[in-house]
Amino acid sequence: MFLDLGCGFPPMTTIGTARSLPGWQVIGADPAFGQYLVYDEDGRYALFDPEKRLRFVQSGNTDPDPEATRERFSRLLTDLLDGREGSGARLVAEPSREFECDNLTLVREGMGEIEIPGGVDVIRCMNVLMYYDQTFRLRTLEWAAGLLRPGGLLICGSNWAHSTCSRYTVYQRRGGSLVAREFAFGVDNVRPIELAPWYALHDDNVENRANAHAVGILRRDPRFRRHFDDRLDVELADLGVCARGADGYLGGAGDRSADDLAVIAAELAERLDEFVEDAVTVLQRNGYEAWRNSAAHVAMTPFMPPPLPNSRVR
Ligand SMILES: C[S@@+](CC[C@H](N)C(=O)[O-])C[C@H]1O[C@@H](n2cnc3c(N)ncnc32)[C@H](O)[C@@H]1O
Repeated sequence: MFLDLGCGFPPMTTIGTARSLPGWQVIGADPAFGQYLVYDEDGRYALFDPEKRLRFVQSGNTDPDPEATRERFSRLLTDLLDGREGSGARLVAEPSREFECDNLTLVREGMGEIEIPGGVDVIRCMNVLMYYDQTFRLRTLEWAAGLLRPGGLLICGSNWAHSTCSRYTVYQRRGGSLVAREFAFGVDNVRPIELAPWYALHDDNVENRANAHAVGILRRDPRFRRHFDDRLDVELADLGVCARGADGYLGGAGDRSADDLAVIAAELAERLDEFVEDAVTVLQRNGYEAWRNSAAHVAMTPFMPPPLPNSRVR
């Protein structure tokens, strides 16, 4: 039994998990699942909760008038619920049901609410705890310990599209509580083309701090840094993105879309795979227990990262 906690909508990663693990029962849970999904005539969509409040609208960052878009979708919902059709718009009630299949169930519940008789083997909670502080995280760990079967795993942290910029902790239920077994990160975080690994909403974000600390150790190693930087510059030039100019500065990403950049970042991470072993060696030389894990990430025995200097502007 696999629980994807805070799976988002559409729950693409959860659907992928159910497909890859046909012998498992997968549950995707998210308190913000919409009750009504409205598509406009151009196929853009908005989600509404059971009280018909707008929760999300897919209008893009360049929408010149987001307020008008929200109002338009709200009018479309009213029209469709009252049976006024004809504009090419479409209504789906309980849209999460459309994604369910033999081994995938979706529930509108969040941390602390889900009850699964017999418990679960794995809880994945990616890109959720980053919104909360350490107190909430500790409550989540305690709750997850109660829901996991003995030996079960909780994987929590953050990443970006196509699993780039990964940094996460793996906990295991031992006795009645969770023990941190592994902190892991993608070697692409050493010099990412995305902002993600450096982005945090709370200074006490455990995985971001551990990632920054581990990357700091790697980048302080002159041999590793030189090899990594030289190779990354070659790959960036080859992929034609953020290439280093004659002035020594890195270039921009041009007019590539966020989706295209995410695909390039994933390709880069693959091309840098050989540096995983090098990173493991450098970390071991610095006194850390480190290894390459089954997800081809750099894994370490969890450690307490040093506190960050205060980042608040006074
Ligand atoms: C950025 S999305 C992450 C979606 C998906 N896990 C992924 O990595 O692509 C964060 C999701 O966490 C959900 N969320 C927020 N608070 C939650 C809570 N207390 N329990 C469970 N899910 C929560 C939100 O509704 C949102 O869908």
